[in-house]
Amino acid sequence: MRPTIDATPLAHSLPLSSRPAALDPSAPPAASAAHVSATPNVLFVDQSGQLGGAEFALLELAGSCVTRSEVVLLSDGPFRTRLEAIGARVQVMNDARVSGIVRQASGLNCLRVVPGILRQVRAIAQRARAFDVLFLNTQKALVLGALGKPLHRRPVIWYQHDILTREHFGRAQLTVVKWLVRFAVDLVVANSQASANSLAALTGIDVQRVPVIYNGIGAGAFGRFDGTDVAALRRRLGLPEQAWLAGLFGRLAPWKGQHVALDALARLPDAHLVLVGAPLFGEDAYAQRLRDQAAALGIADRVHFAGFQDDVPAWMKAMDVILHTSTEPEPFGRVIVEGMAAVKPVIAAAAGGVTEIVRHGKNGWLVKPGDVAALAEAIGVLRADPSMAQRLATQAQIDAHTEFSMERYVQRMTQAIGQAAR
Ligand code: UDP
Ligand code: GLC
Repeated sequence: MRPTIDATPLAHSLPLSSRPAALDPSAPPAASAAHVSATPNVLFVDQSGQLGGAEFALLELAGSCVTRSEVVLLSDGPFRTRLEAIGARVQVMNDARVSGIVRQASGLNCLRVVPGILRQVRAIAQRARAFDVLFLNTQKALVLGALGKPLHRRPVIWYQHDILTREHFGRAQLTVVKWLVRFAVDLVVANSQASANSLAALTGIDVQRVPVIYNGIGAGAFGRFDGTDVAALRRRLGLPEQAWLAGLFGRLAPWKGQHVALDALARLPDAHLVLVGAPLFGEDAYAQRLRDQAAALGIADRVHFAGFQDDVPAWMKAMDVILHTSTEPEPFGRVIVEGMAAVKPVIAAAAGGVTEIVRHGKNGWLVKPGDVAALAEAIGVLRADPSMAQRLATQAQIDAHTEFSMERYVQRMTQAIGQAAR
């Protein structure tokens, strides 16, 4: 029998009587208890030193409370530099043997890393005792932070960035997540309804008890250019000034579907494709395959590999259309909202959290994931009808500002942290 929510620690400590009321941003601040927990000290934990979407979401949140928080990273990298640049206190707790577990998972390896895992569990727990709340931002952080609950005895909140299905994750990993969420996590916040639904299906928890807090996108940076200087911008970025440019932003990884965009481009004789992003998590072979594919399709001169770029707003502003081509359901998809905030028409793969962001023909264009012909056709439609593309982009910017603002994100997340702390 599947345990009900009331049989789990999550239910006992979950401070939400119902999601809409509990996380209504317009709700007045509650009485004195809310005042006490309005500014809890938070220890954030993230497994990655790389700049993925989950890390950008944490960067903004940690930036909103640098004076009363600290970030533990389980691996070093540019994320640490970005956190330090905004004044965050960062501690890197790296254990090379534990880091290798994902890449070389085998029975023997798992046994070898147990001492390292225990060391990290203890180290996180020890640090957590100096804070009011432990905020876990990735799955490995969830495992190491939640396992130490008997040691630190702090409320645990997990920001779930993934769709927890067998398409994305192994059976063992999902089982560990399931039991930790049931017995050691006080509050799960999901980055989309699609992610929340997958958690409910995995754990049996009532989906109403999993608040959805969408990532917020800072509109300021995306509104910097007025659109009249696109040629100069392209010159600065080394992009062809006159070409019709489709931009695809995100790390190079098979499930992000850059290969689908290349196949679509081959059907569109004079358009160009700009791939902005790098293989962040060891997908170098895929990156090479993309170059080989472009060459084999005879479109290498129309494909621009830009690598990882810090100034995403500028690169987005230089495009005529923004593509999203994930072949698996995207849990949320920051790049979609960023394209919308940049006042660009966005064509996105209709699965997962994406359908909570994009309304087909209203603020963007949806296509079936992995469907090359549909993607090429959609690009052709928007290219042939600039006034419709502009209409979509205008509505997209409004929706990005109203539904996915940074202020709303930080406010709702702060509220959730406060509730978990009580
Ligand atoms: N990004 C970036 N530089 C790049 C490519 C991507 O800063 O060259 C950022 C992008 O702006 C977005 C994030 O990386 O904020 C990717 O997040 P998303 O949710 O789209 O995908 P994820 O990688 O988390 O699955
Ligand atoms: C994850 C997901 C992505 C989401 C991001 C921020 O990296 O893959 O879809 O936008 O987290 O929540």
